[in-house]
Amino acid sequence: MIIDAQGLTKTFTTRSRKGAQTVEAVRGVDLRVEKGEIFGVLGPNGAGKTTTIRMLATLITPDSGTATIAGHDLLKEAGAVRRNLGYVSQAGGVEDTVTARAQIMLAAKIHGVADPSKATAEVLKRFDLEEIADRPGRTLSGGQKRRVAIALGLVHAPPLLFLDEPTTGLDPQNRANLWDQIKLLRELGTSVLLSTHYLDEADVLCDRLVIVDHGLIVAEGTPDGLKREVSGDVVSLRVKDLERAAEALKPFARETRVDDDVLRVYVDDGEHTLPALLRALEEQGIGLTSIALDRSTLDDVFLAKTGRSLRDAGAAS
Ligand SMILES: Nc1ncnc2c1ncn2[C@@H]1O[C@H](COP(=O)(O)OP(=O)(O)O)[C@@H](O)[C@H]1O
Ligand SMILES: [Mg+2]
Repeated sequence: MIIDAQGLTKTFTTRSRKGAQTVEAVRGVDLRVEKGEIFGVLGPNGAGKTTTIRMLATLITPDSGTATIAGHDLLKEAGAVRRNLGYVSQAGGVEDTVTARAQIMLAAKIHGVADPSKATAEVLKRFDLEEIADRPGRTLSGGQKRRVAIALGLVHAPPLLFLDEPTTGLDPQNRANLWDQIKLLRELGTSVLLSTHYLDEADVLCDRLVIVDHGLIVAEGTPDGLKREVSGDVVSLRVKDLERAAEALKPFARETRVDDDVLRVYVDDGEHTLPALLRALEEQGIGLTSIALDRSTLDDVFLAKTGRSLRDAGAAS
């Protein structure tokens, strides 16, 4: 296990003219991340994702809880923990006036990398940054900046990388590119803890994930496992004889429902149940006008666990 955290909490107190205000940002989070996994923390804005990552990255101290990271105690061996991780903040942390190469080189030296030039050249190549390596940060596009930020976090080849909302604000093409880079990390054996408020990102990238809301974990599992657990898939059929079709398909379904002229069949695994449904209809001689499969999403999981949709929970900022 590369991260083993139990009962992490953090409350912030801010003072203003209105008096002291406390925010329970993280209210008791347990995380177990295996080596080589891409592990997601999915949740809306304000859920406590950044606070959780900052605690695990030794940047802020938890109020309570314990954690072991790469075998080192978060509180007692903060230096060793830091040497084993790369941290890419939500904001990115790329300097405006310094070239990408100089920033990465400095990071390599700070981390005591044996051959900083070589390590820098390698990450520049890996993240397709060679052409822009000698331009100051302020001249880079959003996507390039994000890649420099990740290169900064990886130049010392840590076994564990924290990526806090790595694709927020990027256009779809840059997001897709970055997803490919992150998947590549898994192939190289780097463990990744990634926070996101994008459902599709968590679904595509994560081996396992937790869904957080108001500082608490509301669900944990693999993307497919979570979806199956809470809702499954829906097959919507238009057929002449709705009642007879419903009867024929019942054995394959958790539930069937007739909405106006559509028969909805709720199943665990739509992709693999569909052929059986079609066969059953054919055997009964029931003619089919149309059929559609809606696979459940992580938003269905969030909805089932919190009563709200992640899309409406202030996810998009
Ligand atoms: N330094 C801070 N001082 C006061 N409140 C904070 C601080 N950092 C975070 N918070 C509050 O804690 C809650 C969780 O924030 P955060 O961890 O940034 O959530 P997320 O990353 O999921 O959007 C929010 O209500 C936020 O306003
Ligand atoms: Mg955040």
